[in-house]
Amino acid sequence: MKGHGAHLAIDAVSHAYRRGGELAIAEVSLEIEPGESVALVGRSGCGKSTLLHIACGLMKPTRGQVLVDGARVTAPSPEWVMMFQAPSLYPWMTVAQNVGLGLRFAGRRRETPARVAEMLALVELEAFAQRNVQDLSGGQQQRVALARSLALEPEVLLLDEPFSALDAFTRHSLQRDVRRIAKARSITLVFVTHDINEAVTMADRAVVMAANPGRISEIVAIDVDGERAASSPSFGLARERLVAAYERTTGLEMGDAAGAGLSTRRAGTPSTQSGPAPASAIRTPGAANGAASGRMTP
Ligand SMILES: Nc1ncnc2c1ncn2[C@@H]1O[C@H](COP(=O)(O)OP(=O)(O)O)[C@@H](O)[C@H]1O
Ligand SMILES: [Mg+2]
Repeated sequence: MKGHGAHLAIDAVSHAYRRGGELAIAEVSLEIEPGESVALVGRSGCGKSTLLHIACGLMKPTRGQVLVDGARVTAPSPEWVMMFQAPSLYPWMTVAQNVGLGLRFAGRRRETPARVAEMLALVELEAFAQRNVQDLSGGQQQRVALARSLALEPEVLLLDEPFSALDAFTRHSLQRDVRRIAKARSITLVFVTHDINEAVTMADRAVVMAANPGRISEIVAIDVDGERAASSPSFGLARERLVAAYERTTGLEMGDAAGAGLSTRRAGTPSTQSGPAPASAIRTPGAANGAASGRMTP
């Protein structure tokens, strides 16, 4: 399998769902290096899903453009694959058939059996190849969906809260697997999450978005060494910096209990009336870890 992440450039993207209506996202610019992993975090309604749909060509932005390796994205493609919270598998098919489906649609029948076997090994489901997907747990089904996405050898993988329906243990192992696989194959990864530990486990940078209109508020580099164990000091530090950025952006105070998601303890000031000015025109060629990009936390 070729390893080949693409450079993703979101260039001054604004979007209104109704002509002349309010902007769901405004002037979002973000460059993501090949093979980099970026988390999008922010309160519900701040435009994360909108941005992801536009990034993979499922929606055309009202203004601005998205470029993959310099080429404008105008439609979905097997090169940039989106995965959603619900795995959307075909219940009457086996695991192997589901994994091979994208390849078949792409007219790549001959290589399907070998590729499917490789992908099932990658997500550790070899033993389940001939089982019906309905016999699998939620976590296993999400692994099948992941294998199906990866079978197409995407350059960019976009995940919209992919693990939020799973139990904590399953979620954690998938978070590690997805990062491991993306890094091993140099796939550019962009994912939306409500779970701050998920962002720290999987991302090289976390983009914190503000709402009304949706825009980039801060970008936090996630510099964690080695295994990214939640118990390591660098994990804790990155987590603290991300929490601080989130709180500055939303005006909300987060619970700081271990494993807490991006939920809030008490209501604070609305995000539109306080917090830092939007840093929406972030252009950072060469800043693979985001160390030089955007407003960094102190
Ligand atoms: N299909 C749609 N039609 C009209 N408005 C929408 C649609 N989808 C999302 N919105 C609006 O756009 C804004 C951003 O939504 P969304 O991207 O789903 O946010 P998030 O994923 O961060 O929760 C919200 O105000 C939402 O109500
Ligand atoms: Mg969403």
